[in-house]
Amino acid sequence: MRKKLYRNGEWAEAKEYSDLLSPYSAEKLAEIPKASLEDVQLAIDSAEAARESMSRLTAYERAQILEQLTSLFIDHKQKAAEMIALESAKPLKYALAEIDRTIETYKFAAEEAKRLTGEMIPLDAARGGANRVGYTMREPIGVVAAITPFNFPQNLVAHKVGPAIAAGNTIVLKPASQTPLSALFLAELLDQTDLPKGAFNVVTGSGKTVGDALVESEKVRMITFTGSPEVGKGIRDKAGLKKVSLELGSNAGVIIDKGVNLKAVVEKAVTGAFSNQGQVCISLQRIYIVRELMEDFIAQFKAAAERLVIGEPLDGHTDLSAMISQKEQERAESWVEEAVSEGAALITGGKIENGIFQPAILTNVQRDSKVSCMEVFAPLVIVNPIDSVEDGIREVNDSDFGLQAGIFTNDISTAFNASRSLEVGGVIINDIPTFRVDQMPYGGVKESGNSKEGLKYAIEEMTEMKLVVWNHNPLQ
Ligand code: SIN
Repeated sequence: MRKKLYRNGEWAEAKEYSDLLSPYSAEKLAEIPKASLEDVQLAIDSAEAARESMSRLTAYERAQILEQLTSLFIDHKQKAAEMIALESAKPLKYALAEIDRTIETYKFAAEEAKRLTGEMIPLDAARGGANRVGYTMREPIGVVAAITPFNFPQNLVAHKVGPAIAAGNTIVLKPASQTPLSALFLAELLDQTDLPKGAFNVVTGSGKTVGDALVESEKVRMITFTGSPEVGKGIRDKAGLKKVSLELGSNAGVIIDKGVNLKAVVEKAVTGAFSNQGQVCISLQRIYIVRELMEDFIAQFKAAAERLVIGEPLDGHTDLSAMISQKEQERAESWVEEAVSEGAALITGGKIENGIFQPAILTNVQRDSKVSCMEVFAPLVIVNPIDSVEDGIREVNDSDFGLQAGIFTNDISTAFNASRSLEVGGVIINDIPTFRVDQMPYGGVKESGNSKEGLKYAIEEMTEMKLVVWNHNPLQ
């Protein structure tokens, strides 16, 4: 019941603990250590001390460690998924899918560990470069502090831990306060691999104490953070010269053109808007549909949303459960009420019933209503009619965010034009913006972030490029 901190390859008691409660039932799940400043320093010192041994590992050895971890996740898939369902109320079927993705993420990391290459530079192309050969190498950046969110307690951790190990870095992980069990379980698994002692450390506790100590430490060379823009900007402001990689939120939109197969689109829209209770950075929040399809779409979409099985996260049939906290559910409910008072029509859901915020569809929403212009991070989606795809592009771009956007169309030039015009990190054609597989580059523009994840791209962020120049005629 009482958990420990993990540092220098050992489990350590803390001075203080807090109760971890289920977001669904409020049942006490565990007592979680509240790391003190001294605990954070000890974790950073362990990571610093392990840098040398970690950077000396060969690519083969780093890949082996990641493969060992992959096998351990395969062996413990059910347990890892149930832990996610317990601590975050993610329905078990989605938690199992998350572990499948986690396994794939670590597999890709193992493969990428073997592909860390540099580049030959033709130095003699410059007037002063005769007799010189140059090449670049990628070297580990050092201690990486990973600050991770609650919505994918294993896979978004894997997107930081996987590339960090592949690149030869050491890590201090601070998981979200609501999902420490998955992070501590990862420590248990990594403890069974050949990872050098001290290369992976977990500090749990308050964002303020732990987060600030990591961000301000001189020994930490990079912060990799997934979470809200407010916190992300705060981190960047305090981080000094260390590298800061930010994966932030969005209010992802999709455009639906005429002539598409509505039944297929509705099915995808339900997944995009409501899976994991909409608590996904690329959750489908805004739908812009050509006016002629609006009525038919709304009828089918409402019926599909009302068919969702709502309830206990550990039940394998459940599609949707409680959000991460009562406070967040109340926020979502109040945003719906505000949108309705500003003129929107509520088609279904939008109220807390039996402790669960019911999946909500709103239409005719004002642009500056919170449910449209801010990140809702709830099972809530707006559907507004458009007169043309160009209108839809303008609507999607009229946002502070720019992570991913989708468009459904049968017209190739429309699709091509949208791919050029949408101001986002990823355009998804004939699918929802929620599409993600784990090796693809993933990251946004505007308030959605400043870097890319996806193993190859995260590894680039987590390494320093070093140039080597050879003068092969030392007399010149
Ligand atoms: C996120 O919420 O940023 C991650 C989405 C995903 O990995 O599917």
